[in-house]
Amino acid sequence: MQTHPRVGKLSLENLPELPRMMGETDITLIKSMLVNLPEPATILEIGPWLGGVSTILAQHGDLHVVDRFEWSELNSDRHPNVLPVGASSRPVFEGIMERHAVSATIHEGEIEFFDWQHGKIDFCLIDAPRTAEDLLTCLSIVALDVDGSGLILIKHGLNPAHLDMMSMLDAMISADMLEVVPTEQPRWCNIAVLKPGPKLSTCSAQLMEDVLDIPMAPLMSTASEPRVLLRMARLAALVTQGNWDAACQALAEQPHQRSYQECWDAIEPHIQPRRSKETEFAAFAELLAFHHSGANPAELWAPASQSMTWALRHYWAHLMQHDIAGKTVPLQLILQAQSQGDLEWLERISSLIHSQNVLEVGPLTDLAGAAFLTLGALSVTGIAANNAEDLEPDETLDMRMRVLPSIDEMIDADGIGLVVVHGRSSKQHHQLAILLSDIPKSTPVVSFHNQLVEVVGEGVEGLKCLTEQK
Ligand SMILES: C[S@@+](CC[C@H](N)C(=O)[O-])C[C@H]1O[C@@H](n2cnc3c(N)ncnc32)[C@H](O)[C@@H]1O
Repeated sequence: MQTHPRVGKLSLENLPELPRMMGETDITLIKSMLVNLPEPATILEIGPWLGGVSTILAQHGDLHVVDRFEWSELNSDRHPNVLPVGASSRPVFEGIMERHAVSATIHEGEIEFFDWQHGKIDFCLIDAPRTAEDLLTCLSIVALDVDGSGLILIKHGLNPAHLDMMSMLDAMISADMLEVVPTEQPRWCNIAVLKPGPKLSTCSAQLMEDVLDIPMAPLMSTASEPRVLLRMARLAALVTQGNWDAACQALAEQPHQRSYQECWDAIEPHIQPRRSKETEFAAFAELLAFHHSGANPAELWAPASQSMTWALRHYWAHLMQHDIAGKTVPLQLILQAQSQGDLEWLERISSLIHSQNVLEVGPLTDLAGAAFLTLGALSVTGIAANNAEDLEPDETLDMRMRVLPSIDEMIDADGIGLVVVHGRSSKQHHQLAILLSDIPKSTPVVSFHNQLVEVVGEGVEGLKCLTEQK
């Protein structure tokens, strides 16, 4: 027998005692949070639908509900025999409440026009928004009135299918607007249980524009699972936007905790990076796994040139040893450095590169900044001296210039611990020697030519050797 695909589970005549969308685990969590409410308590439910959850809430205080009470197409698709599309679901809601001998003050209408005027709120259950923007609207409505010891429960607040909502909650927690309340809930229960932070009153719908720019407060190794899930969602959101720098910075500050990885694993299947970003996304996931693996970064047992994974591991291990503020490299460049063989030749002088500010001079195509950083350089400044009448930074060297942001800093040659020169143009080396007459006398100068890496001397003397080598 064929079943009609639109046949739903419910019909108006045969509604369950307590029609609700939430599952048993959600209800168990909600009940456990209701037991400690003060008496009398004020409860606000945003999005009660047919009232299955409202009947429970109403037993614990003075319940207010906000809903447009309009049977949607989605409702009708799922339950075609309850109401026609567009019909009011308010009579059904009222009937259910009456049948269970409980009551609620009904605020019928759109949430965005709702204005709460009934004093402090002890418990707020939000199950209407599906976007960060709508969630922020709900939170800004109650921001001034949720009692300091009150609770805010957000359905889908821990649902990785709604990364934007989770990411926003991370930002609001970082900004002290909200705090996570510890619970015993299992991972499949996606309600976020929160309480007001000291700055919740500053939350308003206008915050939306810059909420995601709020810096991420560092997490402790003791952070609860919901807290870590929210943070991972924020990292994932940054990664999908291609904001690797901020994601890497935040990752570097996270404790090396294996349990963090499990939270990422719960989030990852829901991330959809753009096609062009899939490789970098995988690279970030690789770094994240390495960071949280508990492996000792000092014990890297294969060279960076071995594979892309090893290149990333070396890069990360060095990054963790240095102060990395503003110094992360687009991951794609590390992968590229490995695949085009730059790491291989540089590994031969890795002891000279480690912890040094490197100056690299060469024709543009030879500049290998990401490779130096992968092998532990503190910074790399590249100068393209291809046609150099006078040595000027090439415009396309933004990435390297960002590390040592301006040529002025570079010319302050004191801090340079290694000079690598590609090619053998004597004119170029002569000019370089003049430009770098201040480099410390002991700075090694390395020549790289035709696959040969050679330490030619030290300081200006080393550069002179290059000139004479011609
Ligand atoms: C997912 S249902 C809530 C389900 C309910 N918590 C349960 O478990 O039975 C979402 C409810 O929010 C309401 N809603 C969504 N967006 C709304 C808006 N912008 N204004 C008013 N009501 C809204 C819908 O009408 C619907 O009743």
